Amino acid sequence: MLGYGNLTSQMGKKLQKPRGTKDILLEDQKYFKYVQNVFETVAEEAGFQKITTPAFEDTSLFVRGVGKETDIVGKEMYTFKDKSGNSLTLRPEGTAPVVRAYLEDGLQSLPQPVSLYYFSNFFRYERPQAGRYREFWQFGLEVIGDKSPLVDANVIATVSRAYKKLDIKNISIQINSMGCPTCRPKYVQFLKKYYVGNLGKLCPDCKKRYKTNPLRLLDCKNEKCMTLQADAPQIINNLCSGCHEHFKTVLEYIDELEINYELNPKIVRGLDYYTGTVFEVWNDRSGAQNSIGGGGRYDELVGLLGGPKTPAVGFGAGVSRIIDEMEKEGVEFEAKKNVNIFVAQLGSKARKKCFKLLNDLLDAGIGAEARFDKGGIGDQFKVASKLGVEYTLLIGQREAFDGTVIIKDMASGNQEVFPYEKIVKVMARRLKKD
Ligand code: HAM
Repeated sequence: MLGYGNLTSQMGKKLQKPRGTKDILLEDQKYFKYVQNVFETVAEEAGFQKITTPAFEDTSLFVRGVGKETDIVGKEMYTFKDKSGNSLTLRPEGTAPVVRAYLEDGLQSLPQPVSLYYFSNFFRYERPQAGRYREFWQFGLEVIGDKSPLVDANVIATVSRAYKKLDIKNISIQINSMGCPTCRPKYVQFLKKYYVGNLGKLCPDCKKRYKTNPLRLLDCKNEKCMTLQADAPQIINNLCSGCHEHFKTVLEYIDELEINYELNPKIVRGLDYYTGTVFEVWNDRSGAQNSIGGGGRYDELVGLLGGPKTPAVGFGAGVSRIIDEMEKEGVEFEAKKNVNIFVAQLGSKARKKCFKLLNDLLDAGIGAEARFDKGGIGDQFKVASKLGVEYTLLIGQREAFDGTVIIKDMASGNQEVFPYEKIVKVMARRLKKD
């Protein structure tokens, strides 16, 4: 017979997951489920409804929505032609697809604003490193159809609540305003004027950014570029009165909730659709390099994608970065337990009865496990202890013969005998299922 090694050498390459991707299993899956549950519960309790969009979209959605000059569109998209020759792209982010759905699926005719959330995987061809994957998961919120600063504050509050529930320590919200089409162009001119005499000191990427996306000069991590950033003019001092008033009100609202934030003029975000309030969530460990979330207002995006001018604000949290952080910090939580019963058997007649008992329990919605490959009762009890179940139900030769089942309470060691017909009801009551 052909072994795995032979098979792989015959095929030429050992099968591995693609670089920058991760299998989520066992212990990681526990965190993943928990984080998803916390985010989704927090979102639903605040009135957000779930949306799931396709994993791939027309490439033009991201080119138009995220911006041609961004790193995401310029370098990081997984773009391919399908068999009909359409150019498709694995979604690198969630906001443009949600806005596409808002326009395409008639969400504009619902009472506004529409508050949506998602928990999805995204794809960016980035250089893999700690906290940076080519496939990663994001929890996102989008509120479309309301221009009030209260909505910005509410998104920030919802996000903060979720991080607090996850018990991630030392979170700070780095916040800025990026202005609007009225005040931003003037500021960009101002910024370019500051940089024009210093072009020789910039890194090669920033030399390009000066021409294509000058705001990104402000968040380059190159040391020389960072020195120049220190004295660069700040957009916050160049906002029009509307943007100034909006931003001031957002801050007043989040002050009211005593949310820990810092004004940070370098927060300019890597996607082109932002206007007004922008923010990132940092923690002490990750800092600017690996922010654990980011978002802001995008009042021009609906219009840019062909809809009427519609204000919107949203946020995306990096799930893998949050899990990495929780694992590093050793955050403890109680994982939801679905199995509280182990079914043990002794003898061939009992095995058949136990197979039926296991399925009767599962049919009644009661989680249970058994190990039919193990004949010895000692081995089966070892598995039951490892699973940490509350009860073991035992059928031996005698119980199989007289139609009874032994319930063993694993904590106290107490044993009781019940007729088989009553056992599902008894267990449902004990586990408070009826
Ligand atoms: P983003 O800042 O590109 O924003 O991503 C949001 C979060 O996703 C980041 O803060 C980070 O935690 C996580 N993330 C991004 N790239 C990676 C990666 N390669 N590996 C692991 N985690 C990553 C957006 O995507 C916007 N759509 C957020 C938004 C929603 N703005 C308004 N609404």
